[in-house]
Amino acid sequence: MKKPEKIKPATGKLGILLPGMGAVGTTFIAGCLLARKGLGEPIGSLTQMGTIRLGKRTDGRSPLIRDFVPLAKLEDIVFGGWDLFHDDAYTAARNAEVLSKDHLDLIKDELSAIKPMPAVFFPEYVKRLRGENVKKQTSKMELAEAVREDIRQFKKNNGLDRAVAVWCGSTEVHHEAADVHSSLAKFEEGLRTSHPAISPSMIYAYACLQESVGYANGAPNLTVEIPAMLELAREKRVPVSGKDFKTGQTLMKTILAPGLKSRMLGIRGWFSTNILGNRDGEVLDDPESFKSKEVSKLGVLETILQPELHPSLYGDMYHKVRIEYYPPRGDQKEGWDNIDIFGWLGYPMQIKIDFLCRDSILAAPIVLDLALFMDLAQRADMSGIQEWLSFYYKSPMSAPGLYPENDLFIQLMKMKNTLRWLKDEPMITHLGNEYYD
Ligand SMILES: NC(=O)c1ccc[n+]([C@@H]2O[C@H](COP(=O)([O-])OP(=O)(O)OC[C@H]3O[C@@H](n4cnc5c(N)ncnc54)[C@H](O)[C@@H]3O)[C@@H](O)[C@H]2O)c1
Repeated sequence: MKKPEKIKPATGKLGILLPGMGAVGTTFIAGCLLARKGLGEPIGSLTQMGTIRLGKRTDGRSPLIRDFVPLAKLEDIVFGGWDLFHDDAYTAARNAEVLSKDHLDLIKDELSAIKPMPAVFFPEYVKRLRGENVKKQTSKMELAEAVREDIRQFKKNNGLDRAVAVWCGSTEVHHEAADVHSSLAKFEEGLRTSHPAISPSMIYAYACLQESVGYANGAPNLTVEIPAMLELAREKRVPVSGKDFKTGQTLMKTILAPGLKSRMLGIRGWFSTNILGNRDGEVLDDPESFKSKEVSKLGVLETILQPELHPSLYGDMYHKVRIEYYPPRGDQKEGWDNIDIFGWLGYPMQIKIDFLCRDSILAAPIVLDLALFMDLAQRADMSGIQEWLSFYYKSPMSAPGLYPENDLFIQLMKMKNTLRWLKDEPMITHLGNEYYD
């Protein structure tokens, strides 16, 4: 990737479009509205609260990230999106039961004014849901045209200079890339003939890229990593990133696994199970949607532990991930991990984690950071896969043939070094020899 000559300033308003305005989407919108009124803190967001060290440790330069790179301000964001249900953002947020009524009532008017546009939906891709607010066009190309028209109208009605999209919709069933995804020409022909292997998320992504709107994929869906989409992203010079927000259990896994590996401690087994009772949990109760999630969750340990380099430590590791739908819990998931490790001379030990987390509270700041960084990438003319945003994803996209980086700390260093690189600041290698001359 060539270094951008200049980054366009973040002037005017930024549209953030969400295909899917359920628990995560509305918690994100409500949090931004509360934060911009000073009624809540955007905790968990690096773009709002994170700092970046510049120069030597003795220089004392650690500005806020948002003061270092030109990011859109919370006040300049306009929210929009699509959903299968007619509920406005206030009603959807009340139904999701993540934020309290007291919290939501402080911004009731703004939330109630955000109404979802009719969705593109094929029930075979999300088997546990039925659409009420769905587009009527029949061919997949007509549906893509309708989404493009939605984006144009949204920009026009709100006087927007630019927009980005973050998929916050349900997890679609697992499917593999097929011939129809292998080039843009084949994909467009597939849209015209309504090929069954073209999913709703692909239609949104295609429409966004055609309208020069960057697309971030918050679910494990097969969407922007297919060659057709990458070709379109390159052609239109638009950034893409994915996939599957890295929140509760996988976040813990990518914090802990690099630590165990850095001390060359062995792992015999890692069993992870969750109970959750929100709509996401209900969708994931369908084995085909769970399969998408399972693939994305299972991949992380392999690239962190590198069993091919350390067969005696990780070669026989048994890794299992379960998700159980349990309605009484709502969004307040509980994730258990049992990790069987071994140390000096092979003696066994165990680690147990019981993480009582709140899924959407962990996901909302990721949506904000991804939207703002994708907009930055767009203004810096960085198109195609944004590997530097791997930090936010369970199953990060990387160039074909390149293994993804899953270690959270390497991902953070990569992200911060990318920001330094963009602003002509020296990379920080942590060598630090100069302090001892
Ligand atoms: N919360 C987390 O920690 C977390 C972490 C990683 C990934 N995710 C993913 O984020 C997504 C959203 O999670 P959530 O908890 O908000 O789920 P949710 O069920 O509350 O919201 C999803 C919304 O998407 C809508 N939807 C489904 N298909 C659609 C389509 N084709 N077009 C428009 N809208 C559509 C549904 O009607 C629903 O309102 C899920 O795919 C989930 O797996 C969440």
